[in-house]
Formats: sequence, structure tokens, C-alpha cells
Amino acid sequence: MAAKDENLDEVMCTCSGTTRGKIKKLFNEGMDMEAISSWSGALSGCGGCEWDVEQYLQVLTEQQK
Ligand code: FES
Repeated sequence: MAAKDENLDEVMCTCSGTTRGKIKKLFNEGMDMEAISSWSGALSGCGGCEWDVEQYLQVLTEQQK
């Protein structure tokens, strides 16, 4: 997915209300998935967002290269 197509207001984790933009911000601050989870609350509920968040972090990591 190209960065310009991102909807940063999209809620990726409904349990914590964590948006794509929030995950991106924390990622850009140098956090890994674990740190992002403890900061945002993402992945700490039902765990249903795990795949989505993981995929998104991979995309962000790719974009950094
Ligand atoms: S949707 Fe993220 S933990 Fe439930």
C-alpha cells in the first residue's frame, strides 16, 4: 500500500481504539511491536488486530529502506 493511500484515522485495534496514525507515529519514534502494544494498548485485548498490526509494521519497515 502506498503511503499516500493510508487512512491514518482508521482504527486498527478496536479494543483500544488505536488508529493507524498512532501506530505509525509510535513506529516512527523507534518502537517495535511490543513497545507499541504497551504504549497504545493495541494487541492487549482480544488480539484480533495482531495480524493487521504486524502487516502494517512490515509495510512501514519496508518503506524505511
Ligand atoms: S482489536 Fe486489538 S486487541 Fe482487540
